[in-house]
Amino acid sequence: MINVAVLGYGTVGSGVYEVLVKNKESIAKRVGDEINVKYVLDLRDFPGDPVQEVLVHDFDTIVNDPEVDIVAEAMGGLEPAYTFAKKTLESGKSYCTSNKELVAKYGPELLELAKSKGKNFLFEASVGGGIPIIRPLNQSLTADELTEITGILNGTTNFILSKMAKEGSSFDAVLKEAQNLGYAERNPAADVEGYDACRKIAILSSLAYGCHVDFEDIYTEGITKITDIDFKYAKKLGLSIKLFGKSKKVDDKCYAMVAPFMIDSDNPLYSVNGVLNGILVKGDVIGDVMFYGAGAGKLPTASAVVADIVDEAKHLHTNIMTIWSNKKLALENLSTLKNKFFVRFDGSVDSKMSEVTKAFGDVKVVTVEGLDNEFAVITEVMTEAEFEAAAAKVNGVKSRIRVEA
Ligand code: HSE
Repeated sequence: MINVAVLGYGTVGSGVYEVLVKNKESIAKRVGDEINVKYVLDLRDFPGDPVQEVLVHDFDTIVNDPEVDIVAEAMGGLEPAYTFAKKTLESGKSYCTSNKELVAKYGPELLELAKSKGKNFLFEASVGGGIPIIRPLNQSLTADELTEITGILNGTTNFILSKMAKEGSSFDAVLKEAQNLGYAERNPAADVEGYDACRKIAILSSLAYGCHVDFEDIYTEGITKITDIDFKYAKKLGLSIKLFGKSKKVDDKCYAMVAPFMIDSDNPLYSVNGVLNGILVKGDVIGDVMFYGAGAGKLPTASAVVADIVDEAKHLHTNIMTIWSNKKLALENLSTLKNKFFVRFDGSVDSKMSEVTKAFGDVKVVTVEGLDNEFAVITEVMTEAEFEAAAAKVNGVKSRIRVEA
């Protein structure tokens, strides 16, 4: 029998407990041994819930119990998760987690510690909820030089953008709905300001390129400035608006960013709607590979945590090699990165167009019936720096969204 402790009995932690109980037999077959939940750690009590029988309030009970082999954490936040992860690995147990803050900040250190103990630090659930993406990057796409990752990595913002596009609903109402469905982070800024997607693209990029991509170096723009008017233009143009976490290598340079993008229906991520996530990975040998599925929510995320528990149970005395050095990858300034831009202007096309053409050159003009005294254009491909310089030459720039070139 392999004993597991689950840290946190919130949305994901209770899902992990539920999956381990519900699929006990099939999981035992896959592992070749029974997985027993010996402890669940939470500060709260849950009277009437069977979990009460294994509930503890003190982490030391878990870390000091030599019968516990694997600790699965689903608490989120840096502390006490970081302390618990270190103590778990130092005591010779394996640790798996859905906690992207922890992985993005301390991934290389905890991987190194696990390796020195012949144990494992696994984090499939930290990116893409239930979608297998960490293991494929680490174990399947190893023949390739990976050159680009583009992901819809946050279920909450994708849910919000999809609903705004489809129903014209207000941002606040849709956010509330996402929170009620258990998708959103406790602090909505983590989702809507792009911080969650930022940590996730940092983790994926670090695994893809083998060096540490520091999330604090990544340019991050959320969806709070996207309005129903932007969606009116997008509809007219046949485009959708998605929050992307993106990194790419161009020659020896590496760029990473989180920002809303307008994309057309040829883009495989165009139809990734609702709480679903999609991740497009480019390799020099394999070409494009797309990963798609439930990016948030109790059971999909629990499925990935339990998959890690199963992997650790199969490798109780073997470290699964993960290449993520603590050497920091220097990210390029975005000023040389090229995109098209969707730009909205105050004023009429007649009064403004010569000014706009002078600054931006050839552009495609878009107007929407009922939107008076404003219009938009889509520029040709230009660098961020060229865009900033051109935009500074025209009065009345209302907003801009990058368009995937
Ligand atoms: N708030 C996150 C999301 C949860 O919406 O994607 C999963 O990481």
